[in-house]
Amino acid sequence: MRIVCIGGGPAGLYFAILMKKADPANRVTVYERNRAGDTFGWGVVFSDQTLENMRDGDEATQKRIIDNFAHWDDIEIHFKGNVVTSHGHGFCGMERRQLLSILQERARELGVELVFEREVADIGDFANADLIVAADGINSRIRAAYAEHFQPEIDWRRNKFVWLGTHRVFEAFTFVFVATEWGWFQAHAYRFNADTSTFIVETREDSWRAAGLDRADQAATLDFCRRLFAPWLEGKGLMAQPKPGGGSDWVTFARVSNKNWVRGPLVLMGDAAHSAHFSIGSGTKLALEDAIALARAIQRHDNLPGALAAYETERRVEVLRLQSAARNSTEWFENVARYARFPPRQFAYSLLTRSQRVSHENLRQRDKSYLERVERWLGARTTGKQAEHPVPPMFLPFRLKSMALENRIVVSPMAMYSAKDGVPNDFHLVHLGARALGGAGLVFTEMTCVLPEGRITPGCCGLWNETQEEAFARVVRFAHERTRAKIALQLGHSGPKGATRVGWEGYDRPLDPGEAWPIIAPSPVPWSAANQVPREATRQDMDAVRDAFAAAARRGARAGFDMLELHAAHGYLLSAFITPITNRRTDEYGGSLENRLRFPLEVFRAMRAAWPEEKPMSVRISATDWVDGGIAPTDAVEIARAFKAAGADLIDVSSGLTSTKARPIYGRMFQAPFSDRIRNEVGIATMAVGNIFEPDHVNSIIAGGRADLCALARPHLCDPQFALHAAVALGFDAPWPQQYLDGKKQLERLKGQEAADMAIVI
Ligand SMILES: Cc1cc2nc3c(=O)[nH]c(=O)nc-3n(C[C@H](O)[C@H](O)[C@H](O)COP(=O)(O)OP(=O)(O)OC[C@H]3O[C@@H](n4cnc5c(N)ncnc54)[C@H](O)[C@@H]3O)c2cc1C
Ligand SMILES: Cc1cc2nc3c(=O)[nH]c(=O)nc-3n(C[C@H](O)[C@H](O)[C@H](O)COP(=O)(O)O)c2cc1C
Repeated sequence: MRIVCIGGGPAGLYFAILMKKADPANRVTVYERNRAGDTFGWGVVFSDQTLENMRDGDEATQKRIIDNFAHWDDIEIHFKGNVVTSHGHGFCGMERRQLLSILQERARELGVELVFEREVADIGDFANADLIVAADGINSRIRAAYAEHFQPEIDWRRNKFVWLGTHRVFEAFTFVFVATEWGWFQAHAYRFNADTSTFIVETREDSWRAAGLDRADQAATLDFCRRLFAPWLEGKGLMAQPKPGGGSDWVTFARVSNKNWVRGPLVLMGDAAHSAHFSIGSGTKLALEDAIALARAIQRHDNLPGALAAYETERRVEVLRLQSAARNSTEWFENVARYARFPPRQFAYSLLTRSQRVSHENLRQRDKSYLERVERWLGARTTGKQAEHPVPPMFLPFRLKSMALENRIVVSPMAMYSAKDGVPNDFHLVHLGARALGGAGLVFTEMTCVLPEGRITPGCCGLWNETQEEAFARVVRFAHERTRAKIALQLGHSGPKGATRVGWEGYDRPLDPGEAWPIIAPSPVPWSAANQVPREATRQDMDAVRDAFAAAARRGARAGFDMLELHAAHGYLLSAFITPITNRRTDEYGGSLENRLRFPLEVFRAMRAAWPEEKPMSVRISATDWVDGGIAPTDAVEIARAFKAAGADLIDVSSGLTSTKARPIYGRMFQAPFSDRIRNEVGIATMAVGNIFEPDHVNSIIAGGRADLCALARPHLCDPQFALHAAVALGFDAPWPQQYLDGKKQLERLKGQEAADMAIVI
């Protein structure tokens, strides 16, 4: 094959090495615009795992890297005069210059042709190449030349950063946070050889401007940073890369992604294809792993288009995963002020788990004693007393007004489509009862509809009459008399998503015309082309709906529920008012967010007035529509603020289901960042929900201050005793129902046995 790599960074060079090694007959040329020794940047970091992957790629390169890197294990966080240290992080750093010279040397050895000082503007010169790899970095010219095809998306972030070096040797990966009159500044510092460390300084763009750094040249920047971080530099200076003309070194990070990666024989690789914020130290790793993946795909496929397609498919998944973690990490560093209110221990924990890739149990594996210190501290802070053994965060108690919960696990509201005429029956008693026995601190009813025509399906529960109230009172009595759980009522009105079939006949599929009832919505916008067109709600309709919510709240109070939730999410009536996608009104209930919130808030206030003062109330919201022009997380903060002002005690933070055009980005705990933002910007308790399916997820979210409660829906369909099982798995002595104690003992014995078996195997 005749292969051209444009760009002699880690991606281009490493791919050239792998292809030449795979077949010495391949003719591989790398074009680099700079001179051979001319490389920028200070250190780069790899995880131990990346090094393992490199062994499979080319062991000779891996060995040379291992011989030259600086390894460290500890992370140190300096915040408000405290230093929090956590061990076991297993990273290594090396000088970018050295990495590139190792790669260049190895490429030469294998017979790769390296052409320096050649800036490539287009691929026209390489018409005879079988494969052209655009590895020309984050500002790729080649990508720009074919932007129509690759469709790059470039997201310029909110922070400014500068990449510096210092001879102060940081033995740990060190984060330093400094509060200034302009805002927070932070340094990310790590050693990459015997006597030099990378020292990246970062701050919000507004702080950067306020500090006058937009006018600072290189010398002024160095002087500013040196003074700011003097206590950590131990008299050592800071160094910048030589810069012709001495201009500013501050840059804005761009998150790059591309719709397409392949165009005929041309393929994007490394930063040209995707970037990942430096705070998760993965840019170089991704570039090297891209190279390994493409080289392997070429070996596995007998045709190049197949190999390129396979490479794109494989890498897209991993890149998406990493970019999603990197997004969380980027946003964490953009919002230091949000977390700076945490006590230092929680601040540090939040930082360590910011990407949601490092979890509570990962931290335990890395450094058990650090994690136990966190658990003990959190326990003492929550309960006011020192427990004999550390308590997993998910099993810490929580109080909201008069409601005292035993733990942080919640059975999320789930429609069961099993009622007749809105009346809950034995199914609901057994279903909710089993979950209340299963150890969750709080169990939610399904969305219970306030009017017959406000039901989603004919199988939905309602609370507009006496019979329904009595049936619910029976469920509540069971929970209170026979279990330790508290029970919450979720009230809703289906609006434009009403008159559809029960879930297992297809979500949102409309009922046959003979069975369907007329539906209302803020505007006559149907959920989909197949659904009924709703009638625009008149003020009279709105009065009736508001009064029905208040009446149902009174019934709920009489039935004895501990908490009341207003369902204002997922595209149902109140959510349809809030989102501009379905609210097209021109009166005072449409237009601005303030107007769109007017009716939902009116309903909430009416419920609040009908519901006992001492009992808590929550609101479920969709924190984003996942649609351009729809509700965004910034709006969600305002929505939460408005409900807080109206008397909400907790925001239940869900997302989406408001438009068929939504393009959600799913992943583990994917909605927790929205909860984090609302909780810590608005200053209100939150409940996180959505793909939280392991005890580890719950512990990380609670300990990191991302939410006060975690709601799990589908996991509780699989396992009503999720919480009790989690307790045994974590070695926590949760109170089991006395009728089930033999089961608990057996489970604990089996767990002990498993541990003993493991010990034998090891
Ligand atoms: C200036 C700079 C400094 C960095 N420093 C660090 C660091 O200290 N630590 C860290 O963890 N990460 C650092 N990164 C990020 C990290 O190195 C990247 O994620 C990683 O290098 C990606 O590798 P790559 O080969 O895709 O791109 P790059 O490393 O950016 O390599 C691209 C190469 O292509 C060359 N090039 C660009 N355009 C053309 C053209 N038209 N014709 C010919 N050649 C071209 C460039 O000169 C460069 O050598 C840095 C990135 C840059 C751009
Ligand atoms: C069968 C089913 C029914 C649901 N019904 C409701 C509901 O009535 N009210 C509500 O707010 N959310 C409802 N949801 C959404 C869940 O409460 C939860 O937000 C969502 O399933 C994500 O959580 P999970 O990943 O733990 O399943 C339902 C989910 C499922 C799976």
